[in-house]
Amino acid sequence: MKISFAAHALPNKGALVVGVAQGGKLSPSAATLDKTSGGAIKRAIAASRFTGRKGEFLELLAPPKLGNSRVLLAGLGEVSKLTALDLENLGGSVYASLATGGESEASIIVDGLKSAKAQPSARAAHYAYGALLRSYRFDKYRTKEKPEKKPSLKRLSLRVDNPGAARKLMQGLTKVADGVFFTRDLVSEPANVIYPESFAERARELSKLGVKVQALGVAAMRRQGMGALLGVGQGSVREPRLVVMQWNGAPAAKGQAAKPIAIVGKGVTFDTGGISIKPAAGMEDMKWDMGGAGVVAGLMKALAGRKAKVNVVGVCGLAENMPDGNAQRPGDIVTSMSGQTIEVLNTDAEGRLVLADALWYTQQRFKPRAVIDLATLTGAIVVALGNEYAGLFANDDKLAKLLMDAGEATGEGVWRMPLGEEYDKLIDSPAADIKNIGGGRAGGSITAAQFLQRFIKNGTPWAHIDIAGVTWVSKDKPTVPKGGTAFGVRLLNEMIAAHYEG
Ligand code: BES
Ligand code: MN
Ligand code: ZN
Repeated sequence: MKISFAAHALPNKGALVVGVAQGGKLSPSAATLDKTSGGAIKRAIAASRFTGRKGEFLELLAPPKLGNSRVLLAGLGEVSKLTALDLENLGGSVYASLATGGESEASIIVDGLKSAKAQPSARAAHYAYGALLRSYRFDKYRTKEKPEKKPSLKRLSLRVDNPGAARKLMQGLTKVADGVFFTRDLVSEPANVIYPESFAERARELSKLGVKVQALGVAAMRRQGMGALLGVGQGSVREPRLVVMQWNGAPAAKGQAAKPIAIVGKGVTFDTGGISIKPAAGMEDMKWDMGGAGVVAGLMKALAGRKAKVNVVGVCGLAENMPDGNAQRPGDIVTSMSGQTIEVLNTDAEGRLVLADALWYTQQRFKPRAVIDLATLTGAIVVALGNEYAGLFANDDKLAKLLMDAGEATGEGVWRMPLGEEYDKLIDSPAADIKNIGGGRAGGSITAAQFLQRFIKNGTPWAHIDIAGVTWVSKDKPTVPKGGTAFGVRLLNEMIAAHYEG
């Protein structure tokens, strides 16, 4: 879909989208259309239950005296409360209601928003950004889909006061969307297509944008002593990898490169559970157990695409967790790169093993100013928070606050969960330094986070985001079609833009 910005006008072809505020108050453009059409807009509203509430729509087909195929009235709710995020959601919902109706072109008239919270220059761009985010589709394997089932909307034009300003802002937002789509593609691909090596190949594409991409193979990881990560991958014919991506966009101060922020992702390209095998029902979901790594790659793409003035290193721990004659067994004891030994009591608690070495390596090599990891780590976080918030664990209140603020701004909300000594005791092992599961199911997301914290060096600000509930959704959301969400790309991009750039 091609998105453009132009000065105010009411084109007399294609679809027109105009706003209506709470209580049925017409925007100036809606009022003009009502006059031109001999009152058709007001009559349609009167004949329906449409009241202009946020998220409400009313569609008039072939409206009298207008050349347009349709007029879509978009409920704005209380205009004075509208934020940039609300406008993104509006754009997403507008896209969804026009995409498959046979319409090929639409004009959104952005007016009647004088009192809105969103900055005037940001309104049209975020409206368009929302539509763009919603337009994502993973359809490369649907070879027999009928053309009439595919989205028909090809051109979307936004009519605004200052098209130049909107266009400029949209340039950056488009780069973020590119990152989001890169992640959604990675997460949507099946595990016969995306495995550690092929993930690394896709990540390598980012070098075109100026990202330095490296992949450590088995021999290199063995030299580093990554027994925890390697143990997870040893039952698979797909060899594990550790992908390291560096974006150095910050100007050096006094000849000294600024310390990077490190983002580390769990990349289990398929999680059968290993010898502690999972039940068959729903196991296909475990193709997206590399969602954290997918977010890291998409974030790097967004940052490099918009040439962010910041140094960020992205690290993906990649392995496939399979049952096999060579797979690790419950009770095995592995030695992690940190030197700490781990008793693997359940081979299905593999994400933390992968992250243990990825986190340690990242801190050793880069001495980052902060480390944030993302992982589809526990079913327990889905029980606790459902599919709305991700779980946030942090050893640093300032870092936690930055993430919570960015969550509010982007709609990718994080909910803080506790860490503490009493929880930490639950992963002491009688046979090794640590065991990879807590006592029972109680506090499963917390004991997983405690495990990760044992691999965080003293004094490193660290946050762990458990995205198991939000990486994949089975229902459409305004800017997220069902499927892979890329939850975390917008969140971290926003946090970096708001706090670490410039
Ligand atoms: N990848 C899963 C967690 C998961 C579950 C992600 C559902 C997305 C949706 C993880 O590796 C896992 O299996 N965790 C176990 C841990 C348990 C064995 C301590 C779990 O949550 O059951
Ligand atoms: Mn598992
Ligand atoms: Zn897993």
